[in-house]
Amino acid sequence: VTADNILWILVCFHLISYFCILQFICKDTSKNDIWEERDMKVIIINGPNLNLLGVREPEIYGSLSMDTFLSQLRESYPNCTIDYYQSNVEGELINKLQETGFSYDGIILNAGAYTHTSIALLDCIRSLQTPVIEVHISNVNDREDFRRHSMIAPACKGTIQGFGLNSYRLAIEALSLL
Ligand code: DQA
Repeated sequence: VTADNILWILVCFHLISYFCILQFICKDTSKNDIWEERDMKVIIINGPNLNLLGVREPEIYGSLSMDTFLSQLRESYPNCTIDYYQSNVEGELINKLQETGFSYDGIILNAGAYTHTSIALLDCIRSLQTPVIEVHISNVNDREDFRRHSMIAPACKGTIQGFGLNSYRLAIEALSLL
C-alpha cells in the first residue's frame, strides 16, 4: 500500500462523509419547509344554520352550497378521507364529537352560534383525544361584539376564521402539519 493510495482512500472517505451530512441537513429542512398532504381521516362538523349555506346571508357566507364545496375539497385532497356531519341540535353535535373524537385524525368544527354559548361543547372537546380545529367562515371579530367570544376556543388546537369556505381548506392543511 503506497502513500498515494492511503491519501486517495482518505479523500474518498471525507467526500462520502460530507455527502452524507449534506443529505441529512437537506432532508431535515425540507421536512419543515414543504407542506405535504398526510393520509388522514377527518370529519367536518357543522352546527346550527350551516345547512343553509349558499342561501343564508350570502353576503356573509357566500353563495356556494356545502355539497358543492365538499366535492371540490375532496378533489383537492385525494389522500384525505373527509367525512361530513351537520346538525342544528347541540346534543347531536356532542354525540358526533364523542363518536369520532377517539378514532379520527382530526375534527374541523364550525359550531355556528353554539361557539359563543356552549359550555357543553367546551367540556366535550376537552374530553376527546382527536385534535379539534375551530373554524368560522366569517371573521367573527369584525361583526357583533357577542361573536368575539368563543366558549370552545380554549379546548381547540387553534382557530381559523374569516377566509370564507376556504377556512375549512386551511384547517385541513393545519391538521396535516400536526
Ligand atoms: C359562524 C359565525 C357564528 O358567529 C355564527 O353564529 C354562525 C357562523 C361562521 O362560520 O362564520 O352560524 O360560525
